[in-house]
Amino acid sequence: MKEFPHQLLPNSESAMAISAVCVLFLALCATLAEEVKLKYKPATKPVRLFTEEELKRYDGSQEDQPIYLAIKGVVFDVTTGKEFYGKDAPYNALVGKDSTRAVAKMSLDPADLTSDTSGLTEEQLESLDSIFEDTYKTKYPIVGYTASRILNEDGSPNEDFKPEDQPYFQIKDEF
Ligand code: HEM
Repeated sequence: MKEFPHQLLPNSESAMAISAVCVLFLALCATLAEEVKLKYKPATKPVRLFTEEELKRYDGSQEDQPIYLAIKGVVFDVTTGKEFYGKDAPYNALVGKDSTRAVAKMSLDPADLTSDTSGLTEEQLESLDSIFEDTYKTKYPIVGYTASRILNEDGSPNEDFKPEDQPYFQIKDEF
């Protein structure tokens, strides 16, 4: 039988090296495929609880600070949307606070810059949910929650808040 030239015949060491590279390559492919499947932007840091005062600091007025906007008590880092939310940008009024009502009503009226959803129409609530899911949750990382999402006004726990339902929320993350 004709032998293969030496350099084409892998010895056992190089065969092992080749298979190790293949395994690594497959693992990398699997990880990338998993990333592509992700619908939500992962939180880059552990999520935290924001008071109203703290949230106000991230209103785009300081160049070196990130810009945060809360919708339905979920705080998003919208810094990459500086052209919408930065200082002097058209939607700057929405940031540094929970602007649920303004987004639901598509209004920039100062009276609507609040988390209060009372009296909103079915249509406005549906619009809010679709912007929340399709714009904010898909486009911006979640950095935390406001107290209003977790506690009711009287300080009792909000039964609708389930940490395990929050994308990328880990029980070990501290508030
Ligand atoms: C004449 C009125 C308006 C026009 C022409 C307009 C136009 C636009 C345009 C072109 C975008 C960008 C879409 C994109 O590139 O992804 C946008 C996004 C947006 N608009 Fe308006 N808009 C108007 C009024 C408002 C009002 C009153 C609000 C009040 C809440 C609002 C809230 C938003 C929000 C939250 C976004 C998403 C920004 C993001 O992707 O982070 N818009 N609008």
